[in-house]
Amino acid sequence: MNVERDQHISPPCLLTKKIPIVDLSDPSDELVAHAVVKASEEWGIFQLVNHGIPAELMRRLQEVGRQFFELPASEKESVTRPADSQDIEGFFSKDPKKLKAWDDHLIHNIWPPSSINYRYWPNNPSDYREVTKEYTRNVTNLTEKIVGYLSKGLGLRREALQECLGGDKAQYVMRINYYPPSDSAIGAPAHTDFCGLALLVSNEVPGLQVFKDDHWFDVEYINSAVIVLIGDQIMRMSNGKYKNVLHRSIMDGKKTRMSWPVLVEPKRGLVVGPLPELTGDENPPKFESLTFQDYVYRKIIKVLRD
Ligand code: SIN
Ligand code: FE2
Repeated sequence: MNVERDQHISPPCLLTKKIPIVDLSDPSDELVAHAVVKASEEWGIFQLVNHGIPAELMRRLQEVGRQFFELPASEKESVTRPADSQDIEGFFSKDPKKLKAWDDHLIHNIWPPSSINYRYWPNNPSDYREVTKEYTRNVTNLTEKIVGYLSKGLGLRREALQECLGGDKAQYVMRINYYPPSDSAIGAPAHTDFCGLALLVSNEVPGLQVFKDDHWFDVEYINSAVIVLIGDQIMRMSNGKYKNVLHRSIMDGKKTRMSWPVLVEPKRGLVVGPLPELTGDENPPKFESLTFQDYVYRKIIKVLRD
């Protein structure tokens, strides 16, 4: 996550414009592709239903995540990110009184296998790892499908964008956010994601909001849906055709909200920029090509300065 600007919570969102919903079971592949592309161009976010990830697996993913966060602090110690670590992986918790935004989370790589450090995968509950591995198999397949539609929407081969993300070496990062009841704290401040795209599930407590046409819109909770958010890198690769969605999350006054975004990133050293097939004299590149690492570094510096 990267903080774009610090926005205060506006009054409850009264606008009801719906975030696009894409039904992956629609028999017409062409219609599905069209819906994915249109939503990515206009909103940079959509909800996927009938996506093929078993509802029972999603329930178990949420169950093991919730069980982990509800363990006593001492039990979470084993996967806590060391204070002096440069790494982003691990469990992190900070006193909300000292922070404007709540920031309780667990982060660990889930793919490719060579990037996994099981030191940051909880052992408690005992089925956390098994469930997460099964979810990884499903979420990587679903990502490739969506990225395939996005490639076709650019007039490219189905594999084109996935290859730019690193092919089967693209990095998948699990982030679990935990927002206990609060009347005041912002969950995640407004930001666009650094990554290529993110596939997010949440528990039944709504709180995700997206910014479009000068307004914040609530993302309605749909049972078992997967929310796809276009991040900075797909926006840059597409030379701005696909939109990186500005989003934030707010906390519920009574209930604990949790979300499970899987962030799909290029490998750190990979150069990312507008694809040469999409640019020319009449369509000059709108973004500089940079390694993903440099992009992240520059954006963090900019956020710290602003
Ligand atoms: C995030 O974008 O990091 C969090 C979104 C959410 O909690 O729904
Ligand atoms: Fe995000």
